[in-house]
Amino acid sequence: MKNPSEQNISRVPNHLAIIMDGNGRWAEQRHLPRIIGHRKGVEVVHSVVDECLALGTRYLTLFAFSSENWGRPHDEVEALMGLLGRFLQKELSSLHKRGIRLNAIGEVSRLPRNIRTILNDIIEQTAGNDSLVLTLALSYGARNEMVRVAQALAAKAVAGELSSEDISETDLVAELDTSGLPDPDFLIRTSGEMRISNFLLWQLAYTELYFTDVLWPDFSVKHLRAAVAEYGRRHRRFGLTAAQLKALEDRSKEWAD
Ligand code: IPE
Ligand code: IPE
Ligand code: MG
Repeated sequence: MKNPSEQNISRVPNHLAIIMDGNGRWAEQRHLPRIIGHRKGVEVVHSVVDECLALGTRYLTLFAFSSENWGRPHDEVEALMGLLGRFLQKELSSLHKRGIRLNAIGEVSRLPRNIRTILNDIIEQTAGNDSLVLTLALSYGARNEMVRVAQALAAKAVAGELSSEDISETDLVAELDTSGLPDPDFLIRTSGEMRISNFLLWQLAYTELYFTDVLWPDFSVKHLRAAVAEYGRRHRRFGLTAAQLKALEDRSKEWAD
């Protein structure tokens, strides 16, 4: 493989989503408590956000805590919540300074009250920023999200605001936690696991997937650049033929001229 710094990044994902996995194994390999891996993992977030700003990626969505992660041992869950609170407190001014808008998806109501308060404060304070939308998936599970979508649509139908046979993809998308965000162009999962683990099941329908063995605490800017370079080599077809896509591209170029 070429040195990543020499890699030619021809196309950058507009929306990058990451399943930040492998913190526990990183710590266990060093005979350290799992929480040390989580702490190290938080440090990586800062550099990944910076690199996204440098690359020109406009949306970054990070899977930080899943609906299923509530089932982990109590002390690990508590330590993760503590880390999240400290991360938010520490990052507040730096996010704002860098023009980043913070957003959250998932069942945020399940988070401890102090975290919800600081999260909502940052979301409010950064609402006018537009260099990057950083979305944290917290207490997020795609199946849970879809159940909530079904509940919202059913409530609208019962209220007479929507007739069930007219429900469209647009109506459904409007009820997703991610409404207002484009679908991810590129998904990175670290730690060698090749699964989605209940992340963005609807939104990932046409996302390019990328799996790396690197554990999240070891994931560096050079790994991110290598992944993005690989994204630039992918050919997305969205169910069409390559010839059809070429014709569409040529037409949009003509319009641009
Ligand atoms: C990802 O790392 C972080 C969270 C799920 C909160 P893990 O804690 O899942 O690390 P591994 O997969 O056990 O190594
Ligand atoms: C997915 O990782 C969730 C996060 C990274 C926050 P998990 O470690 O929870 O997923 P599984 O258990 O390996 O599928
Ligand atoms: Mg894991």
